Amino acid sequence: MTINYPQLSPDQFAARRKRLMESMPNGATILTAGHSVVRNHDVDYEFRQKSTFWYITGFEEPDAVAILRPGASEPYVLFVNPFDPAYEVWVGTRAGVDGVTEIGVDKAFSLEELDEKLPELLEGIETLHYSLGSDTKMDELIMKLTTNRRLTGQRDGKYIKEIIDPEPPIGQMRLIKTSQEIKAIESAIEVTAKGFEAAVQTAAPGVYEYEVQSALENEFRRLGSIRNGYPSIVASGEKACILHYVTNRRQMLDGDLILIDAGAEVHSYTADITRTWPVNGRFTPEQQAVYSIVLEAQEHAIAEVAPGVTIRDIHNKALRVIANGLVELGGLHESVDSIIEEGKYMPFYMHGTSHWLGLDVHDTGAYKQDDEPSPLQEGMVLTVEPGIYFGHQATDTPAHFRGIGIRIEDNVLVTSSGALNLSDSIPKYSAS
Ligand code: GLY
Ligand code: MN
Ligand code: MN
Repeated sequence: MTINYPQLSPDQFAARRKRLMESMPNGATILTAGHSVVRNHDVDYEFRQKSTFWYITGFEEPDAVAILRPGASEPYVLFVNPFDPAYEVWVGTRAGVDGVTEIGVDKAFSLEELDEKLPELLEGIETLHYSLGSDTKMDELIMKLTTNRRLTGQRDGKYIKEIIDPEPPIGQMRLIKTSQEIKAIESAIEVTAKGFEAAVQTAAPGVYEYEVQSALENEFRRLGSIRNGYPSIVASGEKACILHYVTNRRQMLDGDLILIDAGAEVHSYTADITRTWPVNGRFTPEQQAVYSIVLEAQEHAIAEVAPGVTIRDIHNKALRVIANGLVELGGLHESVDSIIEEGKYMPFYMHGTSHWLGLDVHDTGAYKQDDEPSPLQEGMVLTVEPGIYFGHQATDTPAHFRGIGIRIEDNVLVTSSGALNLSDSIPKYSAS
């Protein structure tokens, strides 16, 4: 079977560039692509474009540089790797200078011309929107330009007056998803759901975590997700207490829980789903008790999601259920209020309940504005992922809970009137 997931249309990227230029009418914006990184001798890590560069350009190739100049006759300039016959033989096709003029670029240059052309393109410009420190080569070019313009400024009165980081405002743009972006996230979740289905069928006592990972990711690839949004966490037994465990080499035992936290990437947007279940199909009473609390915490937290609510409000909902549950389990003995106020829950629940989701699994966008938590708005997508972990750090844990780690994670869209759990159809073990 295949899943039909449409690409984002070119007008999405054009609209983003237009919005960006309207929001920064003075000066020029410079955005750099990622670069290939050596993994080991003669082998690079798989390249994946920097999310912000992709968001604005839709261009997948490394090393490129985009310059946006509102009001110029050629406002969108892109520097790209040129055609290279040897590269074509060894690695594959690149768009080249001619190829990118077809994707909405007003003027394209080879990267070989960057040093010479950059000062020309930025002539007379006094405000640069660039994330200093984000790219060594561009940092150097900007420093050189700033120094030169300080000297020539004595003659023409124009110099680089300010360098403003464009990443935070673009992060705010990325926070509100369009219907096409939501469709991409939904497709990523749909593929992830199929992966979880295969993982559930594969997990059993005696099976290794990597075998389950293989079943999960085989579905991702088979359905056209060319890569994960992040490395899959396939954690059984006490490994589930390691939040970002990616070793995935343990052999599962009868009586273990397995926690999988994984997300397929579709058109650069990722899902971020966690399910926890018993590898032999039956909870022990202790596992069941902890699972019920996490599930209840998640249900309360998801019910809270709505425009105007904050991620802190959602976290507080989950926290109260978890604190109460930890008292019932005998892990903590104080009142729920003092457990929350004094942070006594931290050894058992040490992460937040939610984060933004999109091109990055921990997507960009401010969690606070003017020192206050940002209120949710229609079009935001966030995770809701409470957990309880009886790992090494939970020293006073009753012995029969030791090694239990449970997290349940869904991806939720903020709608005009409330919320939609986009991953609701991925089965969860019921609490009873
Ligand atoms: N997959 C990482 C997280 O849930 O935040
Ligand atoms: Mn996750
Ligand atoms: Mn998450």
